[in-house]
Amino acid sequence: MPHVVTQSCCSDASCVYTCPVNCIHPTPDEPDFLSAEMLYIDPAACVDCGACVSACPVGAIKPHTRLGESEQDFRAVNADFYRGERDRPLLAPVVPPLRVRERARPPRVAVVGSGPAAMYTADEILTIPGATVSMFERLPEPHGLARYGVAPDHRRTRQISDQFDTITEQDGLALFLGVEIGSHVTHEQLLDHHDAVVYAVGAATDRRLDIPGAGLPGTASATEFVAWYNGHPDFADRTFVLSHQRAVVIGNGNVALDVARILTVDPDTLAGTDIAPAALDALRGSRIEEVVVAGRRGPAQSAFTLPELLGLRDTPGVELFVQPDELDLDTAADAKLEVLRGLRPRACPSRRIHLRYLLSPARITGRDHVEAVEFERNELIATADGDVRVKPTGALEVLDAGLVLTSIGYRGRALPGLPFDQATGTVPHRGGRVIDPDTGHPVPGTYVAGWIKRGPTGFIGTNKSCARETVTALVDDLNAGRLATPAAAAPGELPNLLPGLKSR
Ligand SMILES: Cc1cc2nc3c(=O)[nH]c(=O)nc-3n(C[C@H](O)[C@H](O)[C@H](O)COP(=O)(O)OP(=O)(O)OC[C@H]3O[C@@H](n4cnc5c(N)ncnc54)[C@H](O)[C@@H]3O)c2cc1C
Ligand SMILES: NC(=O)c1ccc[n+]([C@@H]2O[C@H](COP(=O)([O-])OP(=O)(O)OC[C@H]3O[C@@H](n4cnc5c(N)ncnc54)[C@H](OP(=O)(O)O)[C@@H]3O)[C@@H](O)[C@H]2O)c1
Ligand code: SF4
Ligand code: SF4
Repeated sequence: MPHVVTQSCCSDASCVYTCPVNCIHPTPDEPDFLSAEMLYIDPAACVDCGACVSACPVGAIKPHTRLGESEQDFRAVNADFYRGERDRPLLAPVVPPLRVRERARPPRVAVVGSGPAAMYTADEILTIPGATVSMFERLPEPHGLARYGVAPDHRRTRQISDQFDTITEQDGLALFLGVEIGSHVTHEQLLDHHDAVVYAVGAATDRRLDIPGAGLPGTASATEFVAWYNGHPDFADRTFVLSHQRAVVIGNGNVALDVARILTVDPDTLAGTDIAPAALDALRGSRIEEVVVAGRRGPAQSAFTLPELLGLRDTPGVELFVQPDELDLDTAADAKLEVLRGLRPRACPSRRIHLRYLLSPARITGRDHVEAVEFERNELIATADGDVRVKPTGALEVLDAGLVLTSIGYRGRALPGLPFDQATGTVPHRGGRVIDPDTGHPVPGTYVAGWIKRGPTGFIGTNKSCARETVTALVDDLNAGRLATPAAAAPGELPNLLPGLKSR
């Protein structure tokens, strides 16, 4: 009776270190960890001890006898990962504790942001005896995209907030909500009160699609739509046109699948979740019958992950559809393609999601409101390095729509006083130390973690090993005497920075 990792896995690898036979992979030290879509249990090696079940913060691991109907496919998903030979040591790698030199004072660290990267950073720092963390969040609620990004119907994934609450309840951590660094408090002020500052501010904005008509009423980014249905205070007043029978989503990553699902699922199934009440009301009145998710490459290059595709396929009342001619583009054996090839029409679906391929958006048209999207049709060209790129064929295809959401990725924002790489939308760094691009030297006492460091990719748990790398660099600098002593003596003086600054 092997155990099985299922859809809500957020790749934080907590299970890896509890397994007595090291049968959960890839582990964070293995080369394929960052590209893996989840972690997998080797059914041939699992001894069914159940230790991993309680270690998982999102309830993703189950004995195979307790899998629900929609989770059955995950048995094969786990087993398939071990089809080839995989060398592994008898025991999982041991993560050495962070060691602060005996004479060094316990560090006092400011962490900016309260999303996954900030939480994992704080948790690492607080393993150092006597260390303290002041965490600053611009919003009135903590947890970043774990609160304002993860879809409301992904209830198990949202349970990660319980683990984050446990982190913030630790002695030594003070959480300041509603404080924006760079506007209410400056970087220099933070350094006056702390040995170091770690920026874990995520990627707050979205990549813009630069085509004619992109700003027409009825167009929006998936970033805005997601923030709206999750009750993000900056987007509470947004409205979206749900009166046309078709919506088009441009891009086919996991965010695109989230928004397509929220637009098509029976709103009654969202009642009782954390969805914003105004969004639920609007969705109840929606006339959308079909959502087209348009990718510019082929089905084998779909940016969504297999677990999310399986979840979408099994959404009650929603038919998922791919045109046979677009599916025939690739004959390779591939798990995602197999799922797409196995799609069957649903009896009386109330709504439909149509996955389209080889379509690059060229123009959005309409007089004073979106009426259609014009796509240029592509063909696939294999590149010398084994990747696939697209070449426009010159043929055009027009899809009528009343709502067009661009879901082509998030993007980091520059912070006052910090270097910023406009090309990648990230802060330049080496191993988490912020680097001044003019001198090539580290900016003293300044670090980054999470999406502002790596760019907007990866799961909640991916930020854990990312934060660990950053805190290791910080502790090395502390031990080597490279951190300046803060000018202000006591952390208790911190509230003086802002009248009414209160920690939670
Ligand atoms: C729509 C969406 C859905 C997702 N769903 C899943 C999922 O189901 N499962 C999964 O594993 N992963 C999911 N992810 C990925 C996951 O959310 C990210 O990997 C993770 O949130 C990135 O963490 P972060 O801490 O770097 O950034 P964020 O989560 O964005 O946190 C950054 C925080 O910093 C705060 N901040 C920004 N600037 C300042 C400032 N100047 N001062 C103070 N505070 C500031 C922000 O308000 C925010 O709270 C999803 C991502 C998106 C976009
Ligand atoms: N449930 C979950 O676990 C979950 C949920 C949501 C998000 N996430 C994670 O969060 C990260 C961000 O997700 P995401 O969906 O925003 O990003 P993403 O996975 O990078 O997908 C971006 C999509 O936009 C397309 N695109 C980019 N530029 C384009 C352009 N100019 N024109 C047309 N299409 C364009 C990409 O196409 P190409 O592939 O051709 O470049 C791709 O389809 C991902 O790592 C994701 O896995 C996880
Ligand atoms: S049940 Fe035990 S042996 Fe199996 S994967 Fe989990 S921890 Fe490892
Ligand atoms: S969420 Fe973490 S603990 Fe749970 S299965 Fe995935 S990697 Fe393991």
